Amino acid sequence: MILGIDLGTTKSVVGVWKGGVHIIDCNGKLSIPSELTYDNGEIFVGHGSKTRAGGHKIKGFKRHLNDPLTENAPWYSYPQCAAGYVLAKLRLMAERYLGYEVRDAVIAIPSHFDFNQRRATLEAAEIAGLKVKRLLNEATACALAYANRPGHYQFENIMVADIGGGTTDVAYVDAIDGFLSTRYIDGTTLLGGIDFDKALFDDLIGRVKERCGSDDIILTIDQREHLLNLVELAKIELSQCESTSIHLSHFPIGGHLFSGEFVYDKKRFAELCQPLFDKIIAVVKTVLKDRDDKIATTFLALGGASRTSGLKQAIHDQLSLDGKQTMDIETAVAFGAVEFAGMLLGKADALATDILQDNYGIGLENGKYEVLLHKGSTIPFRATKEITIVAGNQTKLSVSIYKGGNSLAKNNTLIGTLEMIGLPPRPAKSLTAVVEFDVDVNMDIRVTAKLKDSPTHEVAITLTSSNGLPEHLMKFMKEKVSTWYAKQRSSPDC
Ligand SMILES: Nc1ncnc2c1ncn2[C@@H]1O[C@H](COP(=O)(O)OP(=O)(O)OP(=O)(O)O)[C@@H](O)[C@H]1O
Ligand SMILES: [Mg+2]
Repeated sequence: MILGIDLGTTKSVVGVWKGGVHIIDCNGKLSIPSELTYDNGEIFVGHGSKTRAGGHKIKGFKRHLNDPLTENAPWYSYPQCAAGYVLAKLRLMAERYLGYEVRDAVIAIPSHFDFNQRRATLEAAEIAGLKVKRLLNEATACALAYANRPGHYQFENIMVADIGGGTTDVAYVDAIDGFLSTRYIDGTTLLGGIDFDKALFDDLIGRVKERCGSDDIILTIDQREHLLNLVELAKIELSQCESTSIHLSHFPIGGHLFSGEFVYDKKRFAELCQPLFDKIIAVVKTVLKDRDDKIATTFLALGGASRTSGLKQAIHDQLSLDGKQTMDIETAVAFGAVEFAGMLLGKADALATDILQDNYGIGLENGKYEVLLHKGSTIPFRATKEITIVAGNQTKLSVSIYKGGNSLAKNNTLIGTLEMIGLPPRPAKSLTAVVEFDVDVNMDIRVTAKLKDSPTHEVAITLTSSNGLPEHLMKFMKEKVSTWYAKQRSSPDC
């Protein structure tokens, strides 16, 4: 069996293929909150964390999967570890449902996750005892879920905007009879529902300060958490009602207990969120521009935050696009991941290809740069480049590898260096090295170089994540999660 997983910023979903897609529930809920709480040496994951007051809460870690390692941070707060616990919980739900152990998974991730974020996701899966069969783009997963509904069209162009809790992911996909090719993607890991919450939160704090007549409000972690929950509820209410109000009752502020009511209507909320709407629209626009003016037959607006009051109208006004929501917004990504898992098992009748989300290339002489892997290439993908060694009797060749599309190497991001040593002494310009880039289906990149007239002289690097977990931490976290897992398995609760 292969699990299909949506590891979301705010909530996560798991399903399996059993003659069709089956999404697994936890006490009747189709998703679990993507969070953990550490309290007195114990770890609580998902709903157990959400309903727990006190302790140290870790959430929103998906956005931090490419952060540099923080020295002295508690082990459970590392994003890979927190994600590992959430994945382990999903695995447990699936194993309970199936009645046997499962090790393999398809995990959906934002299409614009870079190399470090992909590596970190693989590390999280390993910590959870899972082997990743495929990292699948979230927007591709949504398109797969949509295109493979029974009785669906044979041919369709699909534009998907998955606007989630923390990320916005847009893809343009061709679908022909269950075969999906992703053509264009764009997105950001820093734009989603929690940013709308933050906009409302900041405004609310401003109004509280005004009413209290004090500029000096310092909130405890629990107070902040409580207010963030209140503004999220108000935001959700505004997607259904004209106006809503936030009540603060005996709220301790600056040594006093403050009570008050703050009314928000759709108009005010839309004004607060306009800069965020604009950013989302800019991402959708990029994909519209990339696709050479072909007309998308269907525009799907998915992800919980696509329901945000005013957002659909803003997309309609600026792009004349009206989002279709014919699927369950909460489970669409997991649904597609399960379809893909079914496809890998040879059971589901579908196929989907993903594309490279960035340009990659090498530095040349005089500080120039050449792209070898082009953004938008369907993966897996291979590219080669011949480099003539200019100096005579050169014994070493160093090739710098970058991410980016600028013609000057220094304006791109250096992601690795490949060193060829022990070159045979030759006159100037008479030795040629062949550099080869290989990208696998998970967008893992391997670079090799060999001499053209002596192909056995080869060096290779698999680009390593600059923020990867050291081996001893991986081992420690795997043991921690495995112990937690064994304990959970023997407990009757979901
Ligand atoms: N009715 C609603 N109106 C506005 N926002 C909503 C509504 N329902 C849910 N949301 C917001 O949607 C977000 C969660 O969406 P979703 O479950 O798609 O995200 P996710 O998968 O956890 O995150 P991501 O895909 O970004 O990693 C939350 O910010 C939530 O507040
Ligand atoms: Mg999501």
